[in-house]
Amino acid sequence: MKLDDPNCNLDNMTFDDIDEILNPKPEDNDFDAVVESAISRRGFVGGVLAFGTGLFLTSTSLVTNKANASTLFNFEQIPANSEDTITLPKGYNWHVVARWGDPLFSDTPDFDDATRGTAASQTRAFGDNNDGMALFEKDGKSIYVVNNEYTNRDIMWGNHPDGKPASDDDILKGKMAHGVTVMEIAEKDGKWGIVKDSPFNRRITPDTEMEIAGPAAGHALMKTAADPSGTKTLGTWNNCGNGRTPWGTYLACEENFNGYFSGPNEDYEVGAELKRYGVSGKDWGYGWAKIDERFDVSKHPNEPNRAGYVVEIDPFDPNAAPKKRTALGRFKHENAEVVIAQNGKCVVYMGDDERGEFLYKFVSEGTYAEGGDNSALLDSGTLYAARFSDDQKGEWLPLTSETVGMSTAEVAIHSRQAASKAGATTMDRPEWVASNPVKAEVYCALTNNKNRGKKPNKGGDETPVGGPNPREANNYGQIVRWRPAGGDHTATSFEWDLFVLAGNPTVHKDANAGSQNVNPGNMFNSPDGIIFDTNGILWIQTDGKYSNEGDFAGHGNNQMLAGDPSTGEIRRFLVGPKECEVTGMTFSPDRKTMFVGIQHPGEDGNSHFPGGGDSVPRSAIVAVKRDDGAAMG
Ligand code: FEO
Ligand code: CA
Ligand code: CA
Ligand code: CA
Repeated sequence: MKLDDPNCNLDNMTFDDIDEILNPKPEDNDFDAVVESAISRRGFVGGVLAFGTGLFLTSTSLVTNKANASTLFNFEQIPANSEDTITLPKGYNWHVVARWGDPLFSDTPDFDDATRGTAASQTRAFGDNNDGMALFEKDGKSIYVVNNEYTNRDIMWGNHPDGKPASDDDILKGKMAHGVTVMEIAEKDGKWGIVKDSPFNRRITPDTEMEIAGPAAGHALMKTAADPSGTKTLGTWNNCGNGRTPWGTYLACEENFNGYFSGPNEDYEVGAELKRYGVSGKDWGYGWAKIDERFDVSKHPNEPNRAGYVVEIDPFDPNAAPKKRTALGRFKHENAEVVIAQNGKCVVYMGDDERGEFLYKFVSEGTYAEGGDNSALLDSGTLYAARFSDDQKGEWLPLTSETVGMSTAEVAIHSRQAASKAGATTMDRPEWVASNPVKAEVYCALTNNKNRGKKPNKGGDETPVGGPNPREANNYGQIVRWRPAGGDHTATSFEWDLFVLAGNPTVHKDANAGSQNVNPGNMFNSPDGIIFDTNGILWIQTDGKYSNEGDFAGHGNNQMLAGDPSTGEIRRFLVGPKECEVTGMTFSPDRKTMFVGIQHPGEDGNSHFPGGGDSVPRSAIVAVKRDDGAAMG
């Protein structure tokens, strides 16, 4: 199928689906035969049920927890639902902090439902589709930094009957809705809101000047007509999850950067290196090449090499150029979980969210200096990719010239190819990584992967069923965790298990029922955002199917649950509005407010959150508090 096929509705497709159409895999190739024969060799005959039955024994042993009641939680679980609002446990309340289009400056008009703004207003207002976020405090001021990942075309341009941009200004408005928002917020009469005209307020957009730092800086692959030095670039976009460093900076992670480039026509062929990253002759409907030639990949083939990185932002200096930290690799970055190891090295765990891609970590060469200068810490070190064994052991494979025959700069730019060469394990779409604050243990959400056991990844690496990816055509997702050897985050070996296999025990009796800590009362699908709070609760946010039917009956809308790492109990805390994803969270320093991100409510046209009535649905940050004003659990 091609994107202009009448049966192909771009707005209802996932980014991975679009990528697959634009970059078709080899036709049902020998790989499928290999998988089939491997399954029959192992005696798994009779399809999913028999396969699943064999698997379930394995998965039970892979999941250590037995779901004993948690003492960490101080709320009662709420049922799933399909309401167009936010649902919380008894004793909790919520309010909106900021919505797409809310002005950051008093010279900018309020969001207008009729026009949905202009490029000029959008450039000085909160961006669209908020994702990763962090709140920083300094001198009594609260500076909120939040990614604005992308826009839903039929919402952004929903004021036009065809849901498409009608002018260059419309295209630019969409472009300016991307990037990062930095804004001061304050609490007044118990409600948080934007402090307009704060000197900290800033939009970082796809046109903001930034520096390229680390091993890729100045490499031939990074040079363009506009930047022959290969060290300066414009902008960041499709920023998904985030990180924060102990030295007070914010990390914005560039994910599906490829969908903004296009060629002179849909059939324009890009080189193999760009294909691996999903760049093609057609963009995903954003139209940026029409107004900005650098997104025409036929004219500027190196421009996509300058995206796909982790970007470090100083929240307190609105004039500081953000820095692309290329040592952390180039892939479809989800988030960046920063840990300082026992020996002072800075370790950053990162997922590459695409079917069959890899899990990475970066270990700095230098050590963290508390209160000192850490500005170059993320510029030199070693990038590793993870290999998991079926025996619940694993190792970090260094991606170096010795191991993969690529220079340090090439590893930074073509990290996927390096990890393929090293033989890393193809994963079920690694989303957020979260490190347990009370022990050396790290978690990664593997959101789902319909291609598991069916198709290789874009690099041709096989995706066999096994290890932490134990289910063929994985519909529901799972969370893997690992403990580094000796509690040392720089160690190259680890042991792993699964914290949870999501599923549906009311529909399935095999491995698709999920692990023992999943039951009809707490079931969910597609874990994505996972974030530890300082008490050691693992918050789990979902970006999954919300049909509430069939395989997903009883799951309701996307949601947020709390997980107890020790007992395995998982309890539902929040249900989001219709057709949203729940993603991103951070806390006020007094822990009396939990901020949660609601992304793209009504992505299929069926929500009016948060305004209600006939209002345009708008992504939003909401503040959650206890009715008694006490700190969150
Ligand atoms: Fe932007 Fe992988 O989620
Ligand atoms: Ca995500
Ligand atoms: Ca996701
Ligand atoms: Ca999303």
